[in-house]
Amino acid sequence: MFDAWAATYDRRIEAGTAPVSFEGYEQVLAEVVARAQVTAGMRVLDLGIGTGNMAALFLDGGCVVWGVDISAQMLARAQEKLPRLHVVQADLLADDWFGVLNQRFDRIVSSYVLHDLDLSQKMRLLARLAEGHLATNGWMVIADVAYPDRAARARAQGHWGRLWGEGEHYWAADETIAACQAIALHCTYRQVSTCAGVFVIRASGP
Ligand SMILES: C[S@@+](CC[C@H](N)C(=O)[O-])C[C@H]1O[C@@H](n2cnc3c(N)ncnc32)[C@H](O)[C@@H]1O
Repeated sequence: MFDAWAATYDRRIEAGTAPVSFEGYEQVLAEVVARAQVTAGMRVLDLGIGTGNMAALFLDGGCVVWGVDISAQMLARAQEKLPRLHVVQADLLADDWFGVLNQRFDRIVSSYVLHDLDLSQKMRLLARLAEGHLATNGWMVIADVAYPDRAARARAQGHWGRLWGEGEHYWAADETIAACQAIALHCTYRQVSTCAGVFVIRASGP
């Protein structure tokens, strides 16, 4: 599915013909960059990098950027646009790509990807990354289709009707913050557009 989308992805976003959940896309990516507070030379890992739109912003900031994506076509587009990228083709839900990275990152970022994972899959991934791939004092900045709480998410689902992605696990910040706390991660959330927001997640202090 994502391979088929790769050729038209950027055009659809630019033309405003991407799915309704992309409302405020550029603002959301800008918020991730603002929250990441990177400086030149920092190592950034982008989960589900797609065609590299957010990675481009981090490369512009002088970062060394790695991207993981399941889609060969998305990665090909990203590399064509951004030759300095380091890419790994892998399923975020698989076990085999963590070893390939074999390094820690100052920031781990993601946009419009992790709603494909249910809450426990999200938490397992974030815990594993925080433990094994985040540098000391590093943090994660995750943007996605999200709402402040479960009630707001339920209202949005009612409002969207058939446009609500079937099988998608859009985020609710209240349950995410609680789930993060349960695995010793500290999480804050900011709503950016009507249907998307940004989480900042870091290891809880001792
Ligand atoms: C909607 S696009 C977002 C791309 C990019 N992050 C952006 O903001 O434009 C979702 C991306 O996540 C990737 N993706 C979805 N599920 C994945 C998984 N399980 N493992 C790795 N990549 C995945 C897709 O291939 C696609 O490139």
